Amino acid sequence: MDKILIQGGKRLDGRIAVSAAKNAALPIMAAALLADEPLELENVPDLADISSMRRLLQLLGVEAIHKAGAPGRMALHCPELLSTTAPYDLVRKMRASVLVLGPLVARAGEARVSLPGGCAIGTRPVDIHLSGLEAMGAVIDLDGGYIHATTPKGLQGGDFRLPMPSVGATENLMMAATLAKGTTRLQNCACEPEIVDLAACLTAMGAKIEGAGTPDIRIEGVAQLHGALHRIIPDRIETATYAMAAGITRGRIEIDGADLALFGDALDKLRATGLVVEATETGIVVDGGDRRPLGVDVMTQPFPGFATDIQAQFMAMMCVADGAAMITETIFENRFMHVPELMRMGARITVQGPSALVRGVEGLKGAPVMATDLRASVSLVLAGLAASGTTEVNRIYHLDRGYAGLEAKLRACGALIERVA
Ligand code: EPZ
Repeated sequence: MDKILIQGGKRLDGRIAVSAAKNAALPIMAAALLADEPLELENVPDLADISSMRRLLQLLGVEAIHKAGAPGRMALHCPELLSTTAPYDLVRKMRASVLVLGPLVARAGEARVSLPGGCAIGTRPVDIHLSGLEAMGAVIDLDGGYIHATTPKGLQGGDFRLPMPSVGATENLMMAATLAKGTTRLQNCACEPEIVDLAACLTAMGAKIEGAGTPDIRIEGVAQLHGALHRIIPDRIETATYAMAAGITRGRIEIDGADLALFGDALDKLRATGLVVEATETGIVVDGGDRRPLGVDVMTQPFPGFATDIQAQFMAMMCVADGAAMITETIFENRFMHVPELMRMGARITVQGPSALVRGVEGLKGAPVMATDLRASVSLVLAGLAASGTTEVNRIYHLDRGYAGLEAKLRACGALIERVA
C-alpha cells in the first residue's frame, strides 16, 4: 500500500501546469457511446478514474485508443455496442460509471447498469437520473442491484424538473435527450462548467442543445450524432487545490492553463483569506503573502457557489488561519472525514451537524494520517506541506483518482514530498 511522506514547513514557490478536468472528461468519454464515428479527445488527464471509465467503455464496445506520442490524445470509437450492461464490479469502483446509463438507453433503447452504491462521502442515490429517464418514456426496473432501463417506444422528448441540481443527473439526461424523438426541457439543472463542456462536445457531435450552464436546458433530439474533436477544459478543482497549497505555505505558485472564470464564488472567498489570485498570460498566479491566511466562513453550494470538492482543502488552509472559519457542507451528508485526521496534526475543529468550526492555530505538527476519499486525501497533503516535521499520508490510492502527477507538481515548487511503497 503506497503512502506519501512530506517534510513540511517549506514555503512553496514555483510553477505548475494544471491538468484537464476529471469531472468533464468522464461524462465526455461516456458520450462516445452516442455515435458510431470516432470521438477524438485532447488533453485527457492521466488518472485512475479515466482508466476505469476506459475499461468500462471497452466492455460496452468502445475502442479507446491513446494516441502514441500525443499525451492526452484519446480516440473513442463505438461502431456498434457489444453489451448494454455495466457490471457491479466496475461500477462499485467508480460511481461516475452510472454516466453510461443515459447514452446506452439513447443508443440502444435499453441498459442494465449496476446501482453504484454509496461511497465514503454519502449514500449517493441516483433517483433523479431514473425519474428523468422515465419522463422521457423509459421504463425502469430495479432488480438484483441493477437498474434495468428499457424504452418500448424509444426515448421521447419530455419536460422534467430536477428536484435538486444534480451534476450527474443533468449530464445523464442531457446525453439521453440528444437522440430522443422530439424536444426535452430540463429545469433546475446543475450549472457546473463541466456541464457546459459536455454540451460543447455533444454540440460538436451534432446535438442541438441550448442553455447549458443555466438551470434551464433545452435539447432538440436528432436522428444520430457524428464524430468530433474536443479539448477538455482545465480542472478548476485541481487549480483551487494548488492555489491553496500556496495559501497554506505562504508561498507563490503560477498555475499554467488555469482559468479564473471557472472558479465561481470560490474566487472571492480565496481572496478574502488574503490570497492574491490574478490572471496571467498563461493562467493564474497565486501569492499567499508572508503571513497566515485570514479566517473566512464558507458554505458549499452548487455552481457558481463554493464547490463541495474544495471544502476539505479549504478547511486545511483554515486550520492555520489567523482567526476562525465556519465551514458548512450542504451537498453531501458525510464529507468531514478529514476532520479527525487534521485534528491529529493539531488542528482545532468542532463539528456541529453540517458545520465545522475551525479555530486557526499558529502551526500544525506532522503525523501519520489516513486518506478516506479523494478530496480529503489532498487536504491532508496540504496540511502536511504546512506542518512542522514529517507527515505520512496513507491509502493514497484515493489521490491517484483525481490528481495527476501530484508529487512531481509540488516538488517543482520546492515541496519535500515523496511516495514510498
Ligand atoms: C459530481 O458528483 C462530481 N463527480 C462530484 O465530484 C461532485 O462532488 C458533485 O458532482 C457535486 O458537485 C463527477 O462529476 C464525476 P450530484 P455527482 O449528483 O454527480 C444528491 C470528486 O471529488 N443526489 O450533483 O454524483 C447526492 O446524494 C467528486 O471529484 C440525489 O439525491 O453529484 C448529493 O447529495 C466527488 N439523487 C447531491 O445530490 C440523485 O439522483 C449532489 O450530487 C443524484 C444526486
